[in-house]
Amino acid sequence: MPAVSVQNLRKTYGEDVVALEDISFEIEQGEFVVVLGPSGAGKSTLLRILNGLTTPTEGSVRINGEEVHGRRSDVAMVFQLHYVIESMSAYRNALTGALSRAGLLESMLTWYDEDDKHAALDALDTVGLLSEAEQRTGSMSGGQKQRVGIARALVQNPALLLADEPVASLDPKAATEVMGYMRSAAKERNLTTIASLHQVNIGREFGDRFIGIRDGKVVFDGTEEDLTMEAVDDIYYGEGGDDPTEVLSA
Ligand SMILES: Nc1ncnc2c1ncn2[C@@H]1O[C@H](COP(=O)(O)OP(=O)(O)OP(=O)(O)O)[C@@H](O)[C@H]1O
Ligand SMILES: [Mg+2]
Repeated sequence: MPAVSVQNLRKTYGEDVVALEDISFEIEQGEFVVVLGPSGAGKSTLLRILNGLTTPTEGSVRINGEEVHGRRSDVAMVFQLHYVIESMSAYRNALTGALSRAGLLESMLTWYDEDDKHAALDALDTVGLLSEAEQRTGSMSGGQKQRVGIARALVQNPALLLADEPVASLDPKAATEVMGYMRSAAKERNLTTIASLHQVNIGREFGDRFIGIRDGKVVFDGTEEDLTMEAVDDIYYGEGGDDPTEVLSA
């Protein structure tokens, strides 16, 4: 059984906007998939549907064989902006990942058991922040904050990790570092991951597989080897499009 199965997804907004059109693919357990595509291609819409935040107009998503209907605690999401609580330490932020697994009463009492505390430290270790565990996240760099966000997602112990443009607000060096931590975290835990990125040159180092979306359709699905300049050109500009070097150097 595939870890993720997307069947004939279609999403329209209002009468005119077709954000996704007949998207189908399957992802195996532990695969690290990078979704590429120009602005407005439908990347965020796809991730939000996978996360149960948006309902598709047609089609279905199955995670480990179960159809997605609304938010699930076994799907974790890392966003573009660092959604950390700045007044809290990296450790406290990571711990909040356990809340989505806990029952309502436990969440209200902010009660964490030993396993949660262990998971938070373990996740901070995975993203290289164990020695900064007690540091306030407000005083951390953008890259460190995003690594805290990844740690929190890991503490959620998800079946699927989603990341929508997780490094868009970072400089190339920090972006590469964060992607490296995300990939090693996913590989260490055999965690199926789907990350959308617009920086092809950063993404190409990290994906096992790349799915290119343009105008709501899958126009590419392959490995790094398949992701040639022509393929990149096709994803961003369509066949017979402009100079791909502009995208690669963006
Ligand atoms: N809530 C919404 N209401 C109406 N239209 C929307 C909404 N969300 C997205 N769209 C439209 O759907 C299409 C796909 O948008 P989406 O945000 O999924 O693209 P994207 O690939 O994530 O783009 P970006 O790279 O800019 O983040 C676009 O035409 C967008 O304008
Ligand atoms: Mg987007």
